Amino acid sequence: MGYEELVRKEGSAVQMGGPFTLDSLLADLRMLGVQQGMTVIAHTSMSRLGGWVVGGAQTVVMALMEAVGETGTLVMPTHTTNNSDPSYWQNPPIPEAWWPIMREHQPAFEPDKTPTRAMGVINELFRTFPNVLRSNHPNSSAAAWGKHAKYITADHPLESALGEGSPYAKVVELEGYILLLGVDHGNNTTLHLAEHRASFPGKRIEPQGGAVLVDGQRQWVTFDSLVPNDEDFSQIGQSFEAMHPRHARVRKVGNATARLAAARPLVDFAVTWIEQNRKEKPEA
Ligand SMILES: CC(C)(COP(=O)(O)OP(=O)(O)OC[C@H]1O[C@@H](n2cnc3c(N)ncnc32)[C@H](O)[C@@H]1OP(=O)(O)O)[C@@H](O)C(=O)NCCC(=O)NCCS
Repeated sequence: MGYEELVRKEGSAVQMGGPFTLDSLLADLRMLGVQQGMTVIAHTSMSRLGGWVVGGAQTVVMALMEAVGETGTLVMPTHTTNNSDPSYWQNPPIPEAWWPIMREHQPAFEPDKTPTRAMGVINELFRTFPNVLRSNHPNSSAAAWGKHAKYITADHPLESALGEGSPYAKVVELEGYILLLGVDHGNNTTLHLAEHRASFPGKRIEPQGGAVLVDGQRQWVTFDSLVPNDEDFSQIGQSFEAMHPRHARVRKVGNATARLAAARPLVDFAVTWIEQNRKEKPEA
């Protein structure tokens, strides 16, 4: 991005509202229900905070850490979907002749080095903060800070990227919360756990791949993986909020619509919802 473009974008954030500060964001997070000691997984969009944040992503990360405190745990997805089998890429599709080259040359996922993809500036900065740990999965890692960070990021199973034993399942097990800051349940990674747990027509496992370090050496590994489908996640989230207001709150943080949902009741609800609503697609 050129300097002019940067100034134009920053200028539009200033015009939208604010200024939001660590203190104002913390007060908003408290009103939403984020408390010290909670385990919270955050999905974020900086631009949808809808105004100027003094200090940008650093301020948001610090506000989120302060909101859960040292007795709590802050988690964020730090996915790297570009480290996956190129045969599945759609936007754009990759020419078949490139597939072996990409498999051979994709650098190994390394928690301290590999940047996130499409997770936003807040999550990307969070993973670099002191005492933040990151799970070791080529495409579906999560970063965590605080009381349960070590447990949440340890032993991320290759074949259960978003399922049992993953950081997302551990947040559920720890009675954690999902925080959506300017995004909706369409971005809620933990709902993929419900797909793992539910039975529905069309559920399928496909071979996946990624570059990882094995005994310090780069290797392309293949493993089975559930084919994820987030098409109905926004609808599941809306239904949950309507039917379980005790477990779901929606408030403003800055000018963003922010959502806080209790992870276990949401995943339980989603399993039932998926089983009742995902039907076999009619033959084309
Ligand atoms: C993809 C996604 C991150 C894009 O959101 P976004 O707000 O456009 O991008 P970022 O969060 O990186 O924020 C960057 C923007 O913040 C704005 N910004 C920069 N500094 C700012 C400041 N100090 N104050 C306010 N806004 C500012 C700028 O508009 C900037 O845009 P630019 O990078 O084009 O210059 C978001 O839509 C999303 O999907 N988030 C959830 C990701 C996730 O958890 N996925 C899991 C799925 S399984």
